[in-house]
Amino acid sequence: MDWPIKYRLEKKDPRSLARAGEIITTRGTYQTPMFMPVGTQATVKSMSKDDLKSLGAGIILVNTYHMWVRPGEQVVKKAGGLHEFMNWDQPILTDSGGFQAFSLADLRNFSEEGIEFKNHLNGDRMNMTPEVSIRVQNDLDSDIMMSLDILEPFDSSHDQMKAAIERTSRWAERGLQQHLKTGRPDQGLFGIVQGGGHRDLREQSAKDLVAMDFAGYSIGGLSVGETKSEMNEVLSYTTPLLPENKPRYLMGVGTADSLIDGVIRGVDIFDCVLPTRIARNGTAMTHRGRVVIKNARYEEDFSPLDSECDCDTCRNYTKAYIRSLFANHEILGIRLVSYHNLYFLTHLMRQVRQAILDENLLEFREDFFEKYGFNQK
Ligand code: GUN
Ligand code: ZN
Repeated sequence: MDWPIKYRLEKKDPRSLARAGEIITTRGTYQTPMFMPVGTQATVKSMSKDDLKSLGAGIILVNTYHMWVRPGEQVVKKAGGLHEFMNWDQPILTDSGGFQAFSLADLRNFSEEGIEFKNHLNGDRMNMTPEVSIRVQNDLDSDIMMSLDILEPFDSSHDQMKAAIERTSRWAERGLQQHLKTGRPDQGLFGIVQGGGHRDLREQSAKDLVAMDFAGYSIGGLSVGETKSEMNEVLSYTTPLLPENKPRYLMGVGTADSLIDGVIRGVDIFDCVLPTRIARNGTAMTHRGRVVIKNARYEEDFSPLDSECDCDTCRNYTKAYIRSLFANHEILGIRLVSYHNLYFLTHLMRQVRQAILDENLLEFREDFFEKYGFNQK
């Protein structure tokens, strides 16, 4: 299919699976590797659109499930789509909803048809089928849509996982057919590779989805309690199964070390709530590891959150001041740390990209990990 979302490979790292490239959308071209801030309910919590642009955000993620439950995709459609609704003119990626149905809803029933559950706000019964997920994403008018998938626990048995990936493939095909009926030509649809830690099932899942010729491929079912080395191993054998001319997106991963190690294993795009979530309790991601701003040792620390960061927060405010904001429950504190954390990861991806172009990614990793407080290889 001639999808409107394209990937242009710029350089492959000769010593790893890393690649520098660009994702091309009808709303502009953005450099990869990239980190996408998460705006679950059509807002990256406490960040304005200008904040997001100035910190270097490219694509942002919004959750289909949340928009579907409230305000409802029809409200968003009446506004003219998500971009108009939230006033964001850069690309938006929507997750399909299966994962949220999984993590939020009270009562779930999985069947071949879809997922039936009670919504987390008022208990209404709702049916999320692969067709509903795509129809809602069509109405939201996101640029990059996800197929409805099934996320099994990482250590599920081979039988259970095999049933899940086979159903995920059937759901991907049903979603694709729905998109051909109700989708807009400027929307791209991704398939999501599942399979937990079972190599043969990751292979089967990737093969099924690649045969359907999606605009790009997501890698799901990771960062759900497995070890870092298990995740790295899955990535090492999964990305080579995916076409070189399509973007690869690792879902829900957002620690600095996992981003670097994911890029080294061939991932282009990441997202995670982590930077904004930990910001709200006063934790900053820095080049020297995490800074927990409520800690008493920062009471009279008049240096920035991260001395190696040149973001607005770090150029203008001290740890002592931000600590005092949190101590007094002042909302500016949340904004300042959220801004810094998002800047930290988007900036890290720009540095990683440059390191790929300069052919010194592995050295960059060594230096970064040493300062950051990791010593594992
Ligand atoms: N977000 C994090 N992991 C996943 C996943 O496996 N599937 C979906 N749809 N969303 C995710
Ligand atoms: Zn900063």
